[in-house]
Amino acid sequence: MKLILAILIVLSSSVLFGQTTITLFPDQAETKINKEIYGHFAEHLGRCIYGGIYVGEDSDIPNTRGFRDDVTGALIDMKIPLLRWPGGCFADTYNWKDGIGPREERPSMVNVHWGNVTEDNSFGTHEFLDFCDLIDAEPYINVNVGSGTVREASEWIEYVTSSNISPMTDLRKKNGREEPWNVKYWGIGNENWGCGGNMTPEYYADVYRNYASYAGGAKYKIACGASDFDYNWTDVMMARMQGKGNLLQGLSLHYYTVTHNWTKKGSATEFDEEEWFTTLSKTLFMDELIQKHSTIMDKYDPEKRVGLIVDEWGNWFDVEPGTNPGFLYQQNTLRDALVAGINLNIFNNHADRVKMSNIAQTINVLQSVILTKDDEMVLTPTYYVFKMYSVHQDATMIPASLKTGDYTMDGNSVPTVNASASTKDGVVSITICNLNPNNSENIKISVPESEFASASGQIITAEHMNDFNDFGKRESVHLMEFDVAKPKDGKLVFELPSKSVVLIQLK
Ligand code: AHR
Repeated sequence: MKLILAILIVLSSSVLFGQTTITLFPDQAETKINKEIYGHFAEHLGRCIYGGIYVGEDSDIPNTRGFRDDVTGALIDMKIPLLRWPGGCFADTYNWKDGIGPREERPSMVNVHWGNVTEDNSFGTHEFLDFCDLIDAEPYINVNVGSGTVREASEWIEYVTSSNISPMTDLRKKNGREEPWNVKYWGIGNENWGCGGNMTPEYYADVYRNYASYAGGAKYKIACGASDFDYNWTDVMMARMQGKGNLLQGLSLHYYTVTHNWTKKGSATEFDEEEWFTTLSKTLFMDELIQKHSTIMDKYDPEKRVGLIVDEWGNWFDVEPGTNPGFLYQQNTLRDALVAGINLNIFNNHADRVKMSNIAQTINVLQSVILTKDDEMVLTPTYYVFKMYSVHQDATMIPASLKTGDYTMDGNSVPTVNASASTKDGVVSITICNLNPNNSENIKISVPESEFASASGQIITAEHMNDFNDFGKRESVHLMEFDVAKPKDGKLVFELPSKSVVLIQLK
């Protein structure tokens, strides 16, 4: 009898709490989801550049001008729209002139932030921009403010973008590049409140104005913004740029999802449901952060001319056992797929202010889309989310109302379902995450006054919440077809599997 009662309670609670309604309002769609929201970040850190992107022309690993062919192909396939380089903390130690000219003549330096390893500068400005051309991604270059000078930064911008006659353009031509590159995005320093010089916002704001004044060739200048919930940094920066409209186009925000704390971040692959819940609930904080930073920006910039640029985000776990602690190498499970899906939905929904984001980092570092080991390559669950969500790039965001229940753990709750929607070329795309690792969720999507002839779907899920793809093994987490019934009277009803990321497309 007790067992029957228990079963009845479970069944009734899944009926009561397992239903989500998503109502879309395509007639109100007007905000473009910049493709740059799907951007990536590659720093001279661990094996991101060397071994990940670049192996050199003499390598046995198949390559084109030193760039790995497997990685190049995978990034093109994923539709990478933008790549940020060379850091990160590395950027504020980097002397760009060490990375140009004949490779054998380039000096080496010590990478003081990341393991004190030797950086031989064989991957520099020409290599980075050549790679961006190869993968068809917009480049975003971060200049050195922490240990550099205004002149160095201004000469770098001139070297890259100018077609005038000048010592810098002559130098570029001498190094084999006649025409300037079209580099729109320039970051002026990185984390200048920390590794980029430990500055106060007031001091940095003045330094920024100085750098930006001599950065004429940089069409879209991005200032170092806040860490997490440092709302004062955003306020000071916005206040001190008043009346200086042409100096600032973007203000950055860095927020990493750290499950426990910075001393003990937790394993990327060995975790229980409590840690699953904590990671997802901490990643959802991105929504509150964006709302609060945006409210401050609105005060000074109601027309939303300045973009919020989330140029570092993602999961940060303890490094894989036995790997160099300075290299930040971590595996990537289905939990990472959920974190990616949730954040990208949040960015889509705030596309009026969020103009770019860059997950950290592309290959072999933190929440990567690709892992490499010698000549092998693994595509992570996060990779498949980016591939799935590429339908939102440059689409128009559709406002939606989401009614969902709670996923509860130890008395704390998060919304079970997280979603965003967009439209492009007559196709409506809805991406939906089910945060609950135990129960499926009944989803009803309705689009008032619309008729759709067909619906199709894709899904990323796995048997276990910590399944991951590994070298030499069959992939356990990847993109699969997801069958959905034909929509009826503008409504689509289906069962969203537990712990999944799903794309539904209506035509
Ligand atoms: O992505 C790793 C590091 O995290 C970056 O170099 C820095 O900007 C941030 O603290």
